[in-house]
Amino acid sequence: MSELSVKHLLGIKYITESDIHLIFETADHFKEVINRSIKKVPSLRDITIANLFFENSTRTRLSFELAEKRLSADVVNFSASSSSVKKGETLVDTVNNILSMKVDMVVMRHPNPGAGVFLSRHIEANIVNAGDGTHEHPTQALLDCYSIRERLGDVSGKNVAIVGDILHSRVALSNIFALKKLGANVTVCGPKTLLPKYIEDLGVSVETDLKKTLNWCHVVNMLRVQHERMDINYFPTTREYTQQFGLNKNMLDKLDKEILVMHPGPINRGVEITSDVADCDQAIILDQVENGVAIRMAVLYLLASKIDKNEDHKL
Ligand code: NCD
Repeated sequence: MSELSVKHLLGIKYITESDIHLIFETADHFKEVINRSIKKVPSLRDITIANLFFENSTRTRLSFELAEKRLSADVVNFSASSSSVKKGETLVDTVNNILSMKVDMVVMRHPNPGAGVFLSRHIEANIVNAGDGTHEHPTQALLDCYSIRERLGDVSGKNVAIVGDILHSRVALSNIFALKKLGANVTVCGPKTLLPKYIEDLGVSVETDLKKTLNWCHVVNMLRVQHERMDINYFPTTREYTQQFGLNKNMLDKLDKEILVMHPGPINRGVEITSDVADCDQAIILDQVENGVAIRMAVLYLLASKIDKNEDHKL
C-alpha cells in the first residue's frame, strides 16, 4: 500500500494503523533529505499551500512552513490577528476567498474543536489539521510516536505515560489514538480535575500518582497546563501542581531504568518539568521538533499525491 486511506488529515481518529506506518516510512526518507547539504526536493513544485492560523503557534507553524518549503511548494500564510476575521468574516468565506486564489491544500489551526471537519465538508482542497481547540493535533501525535519508534525501535508493547492537563489537551487525545493504534500501553496521569470523566473508554489506564506512573513507563510525555483554556481553577496553586505532577531530575535518577522524556512545547520550565530534566540526555524534546519537519513533509507529500492535476495539464 502506498496511498493514504484519507484525503484530509483531520485527526488520528480518522486514519488507520497502515496510514501511520506509511507516514513513518515516508518520513524516514524525508529525514534523510533534510540532513543533506541540499535540503530541498521538487516533489510539491506544482502545489500551493495556505497556512491558516486562527490561533497562536510557534513550533507547529514554523515546522509546517519549513516542510512545505523543503518540498518546493508555493506557500501563503494567513494569521487571524491581522486579517478580516476581526471584521466579522465567517470561516467558510475566509477560506473560499483564499481558495479562489487556486490553493490546493490548507493547513489550519483553529480554536474551535471540529473546525477542520467542518471545513472539509465545504471546500475541495485537502486539509491538514494543525490543532483544533481541545480536539486533535494529529501531526504532533505522529511526530511523538515517530520519535519513540526512532529511539526504542517500535511503539508496540511500550508503556507510555501522558502526564498533566489531559482535559484541555489536543496533544493528549491525538497521542492516545495514535499510541493505541500502534499497540502501546497508555496511562494518563494528572490531578483528577484535569482527567476527563470517560477517558478509560479510550483504552487507557488512569493514575494520579506520578511516582507510580514513572516506575511503570518507558516513555513519559509531560504536558503544559493550558491556562488559556481554563475559566475556573482546576487546582489550588501552581506550586502545589508542581509538587505533585512536576518532574525533576532527582525523580528520574531514582528510577531503576532510563525512561525517555518528551514534551510537545512550549515548556513552562519549573512547572511541569525542571530545566535539568528539559536539558538532560533522556529528554528528546528537540528530536521531536526535528522529526516534526520530516513528519509534516511526509503528510503533505502523501496528501498531495491524491490531488488530480490532469485538468491543468490539458491547457
Ligand atoms: C501544543 C499545542 O498547541 O497544542 N503545542 C504544540 O503544538 N507544539 C501544546 C501546548 O500548547 O501546550
